[in-house]
Amino acid sequence: MVSKKLLLLPGDGIGPEAMAEVRKIIAYMNAELESGFELDEGLVGGSAYDAHGLAISEADMAKALASDAVLFGAVGGPKWDSVPYDLRPEAGLLRLRKDMELFANLRPAICYPALADSSSLKKEIVEGLDILIVRELTGGVYFGEPKEIRDLGNGQKRGIDTQVYDTYEIERISGVAFELARTRGNKVTSMEKRNVMKSGVLWNEVVTATHKAKYADVTLEHMLADAGGMQLVRWPKQFDVIVTDNLFGDMLSDIAAMLTGSLGMLPSASLGAPDARTGSRKALYEPVHGSAPDIAGTGAANPIAMIASFAMCLRYSFNMVVEADRLEAAIAGVLDDGIRTADIMSEGKTRVGTTEMGDAILAKFKALAA
Ligand code: NAD
Ligand code: IPM
Ligand code: MN
Repeated sequence: MVSKKLLLLPGDGIGPEAMAEVRKIIAYMNAELESGFELDEGLVGGSAYDAHGLAISEADMAKALASDAVLFGAVGGPKWDSVPYDLRPEAGLLRLRKDMELFANLRPAICYPALADSSSLKKEIVEGLDILIVRELTGGVYFGEPKEIRDLGNGQKRGIDTQVYDTYEIERISGVAFELARTRGNKVTSMEKRNVMKSGVLWNEVVTATHKAKYADVTLEHMLADAGGMQLVRWPKQFDVIVTDNLFGDMLSDIAAMLTGSLGMLPSASLGAPDARTGSRKALYEPVHGSAPDIAGTGAANPIAMIASFAMCLRYSFNMVVEADRLEAAIAGVLDDGIRTADIMSEGKTRVGTTEMGDAILAKFKALAA
């Protein structure tokens, strides 16, 4: 039997609230569908800092590396605003990404038909939207050295972050984008700022060369990342797959989230390279949103991004395509029924909390299985 070791890292704020809804789905799948997930759990972020003084303990890091997939909630919050920089909650997530070598972050932005009215943009702009942002996740300014605040000794300090990309990093992330484009609209838009950044010049060159060498059947276009942000809100349906660096990908995916109605809707998959022998790859699945301190503890969080992240886990880590499709259909079905958390609420719909939304999706998932 395929090993299905799942590590749950709920984290902080609304992370554990959203994860509780996924836990119910897994319990049902294990009991009724004999899915055979082996669950383990760990601490990350502020909750890990409070327990161990680290944003993730060595023991939990080892569990993540030994798992078949990690489900991650969210980290951070005002409680940990003054902890030392290297110990802040977000450092736990960055360590997981780096040490698991999760270089490919897939952030699909799909506007469910029932939510075409919930976006801050006009319905005709977002209706039917289905784009995929492929964000490079282990390089760029997030990890480049030097990274420090230097005392210049004259009463001034200098904050330094360094954007670094090597050829192989651009080759492998653009390869992922081209491969995925072939399974959908067959078009890739690469975004960088070659007009001001040397790393942007190299990015553009390497994406172009990779395309020419291996993926000439896919349509490739290049866009400056600032113009790309503008085009995302002007006419997002022009895009199929967008490939971009770590920082631009972070910003562009939050922008794309609003096209779908709410940040509470956007899932993501962070994948490593396939193992040459087994073909399996390290993977972590997480919503694009954060710990939402403003609504944490109120029971109002939208769990859909977390549940849809689990659907991506079923698809990409366990090849459980039928179950993944069914879970996504359950989400769409519940939205069609007019059930809404506060962030996607509109007139005439039924407003529910986190738990009720999770229950409704599970009930629909069960009904679709029958
Ligand atoms: P955020 O994503 O936590 O929240 C932004 C806004 O979106 C808030 O108004 C929040 O209420 C709303 N929102 C987010 N998710 C929602 C959901 N599921 N349902 C309903 N509304 C939702 O971003 P922020 O406020 O900028 O950051 C808060 C903390 O989260 C910071 O410490 C930040 O570093 C951290 N963060 C963590 C992750 C992560 O763990 N992957 C991602 C982004 C931010
Ligand atoms: C995200 C988050 C993270 C990032 C933070 C919490 C480190 O914003 O996953 O989008 O900047 O990558
Ligand atoms: Mn982000």
